[in-house]
Amino acid sequence: MNIGLFGYGVVVSAVYEVLNHTPSLMASIAKICIKNPNKPRNIGSEVFTANRRELLDDPAINVIVEMTDDAVAAFEIVKESLQNGKAVVTANKKMVANHLPELISLQSLHNTPLLYESACCASIPVIRNLEEYYDNDLLHGVEGIINGSTNYILSKIFNENLSYPEALKQAQELGFAESDPSLDVEGHDALNKLCLLLAHAYGVIAHPSTLVCHGIHRLNAIDREVASAQGAQIKLVARAVKQPNGEVAAFVLPQFVKPPHLLHTVRNEYNGVVLTSALADEQFFYGKGAGGFPTASAILADLSALRYDYKYEYKKLFLQEPSVLATDVKLNAYVSFQDWQMLPIDAFEEIHEYYSGKSFHYRKGVVSLKKLKASDWWKQPGVSLILQDEAILKEQRK
Ligand code: HSE
Repeated sequence: MNIGLFGYGVVVSAVYEVLNHTPSLMASIAKICIKNPNKPRNIGSEVFTANRRELLDDPAINVIVEMTDDAVAAFEIVKESLQNGKAVVTANKKMVANHLPELISLQSLHNTPLLYESACCASIPVIRNLEEYYDNDLLHGVEGIINGSTNYILSKIFNENLSYPEALKQAQELGFAESDPSLDVEGHDALNKLCLLLAHAYGVIAHPSTLVCHGIHRLNAIDREVASAQGAQIKLVARAVKQPNGEVAAFVLPQFVKPPHLLHTVRNEYNGVVLTSALADEQFFYGKGAGGFPTASAILADLSALRYDYKYEYKKLFLQEPSVLATDVKLNAYVSFQDWQMLPIDAFEEIHEYYSGKSFHYRKGVVSLKKLKASDWWKQPGVSLILQDEAILKEQRK
């Protein structure tokens, strides 16, 4: 393998180091394309270029590893690479989630693989498992903490009393956060990853813009007290869960999670994915979801898989009946808000509990996913929407 690498950052330098220490892979890095080749680095300058053509036009480079933070440029690079028969390994979840239909057809048209295990949950091999192993057993649900930065921030707030800005700063300094951290805290990164999970778990190809998503950036001060009073922590949970009618409910929302829920044990930059299936019942995947070396481990696994011509077959999409997204689902929710005007009169289908204080109020009850999708009152500053421990109304679940 003669590799052309795009991007330079925590993950790329980890990949560079790991490849240099894995001679058995017989892979060498021919060129690294970066925005600013003159910045001082700890790798010889002759390997760097700012000109992508030096990689894309070099016939000796047969594998492209794409790890930029620019989804638009990444798509151009990946598209051209696949068209020219260069296999691609990418960590760019936003690019893959935004262009999945085109990427699937490019792979098939040019018979060239695109692998992206590192794009979802970094070190946890969840994509290949969903694609290969959960092929026959009936998969009821995939629920997980799939963004390391937000889990790091929430863990630091709950376990070490750090403030939100302090915890976010640490997540950035440790190289867990995206270069634009709003992608993490507003839930978009988890949503992009959920789109990859949906494709490999259920054959559902959904554009991220079509799914309900909220991050941890609107949490109110009272939310932490409410969580602690019930022995819970707040986690950002992505889920794709089969409903009794066979449709798949998929969304990313903060949630109160308390023991014995497996996701309660997931701390800091770790990710955790709980799979439920008809035969195996419940299974738990746990591992580091962000950071240079954990991400490099998945890149390495993808490079290694290229040696035996591994390709995603998108089995659930092409070889089985793909599932469809659920149109409506009822959720157990909690909403805190600063001002009564922030809460529309029909926000809840049912109200089970309410509290009114000096600076905050909250209501607990049932909300409709369909109505959330059609409105945005729950996204405004001062309003915080969090799912309860039993997120989906019980009678709807299998
Ligand atoms: N910013 C991402 C996260 C990096 O925090 O999970 C890994 O995808």
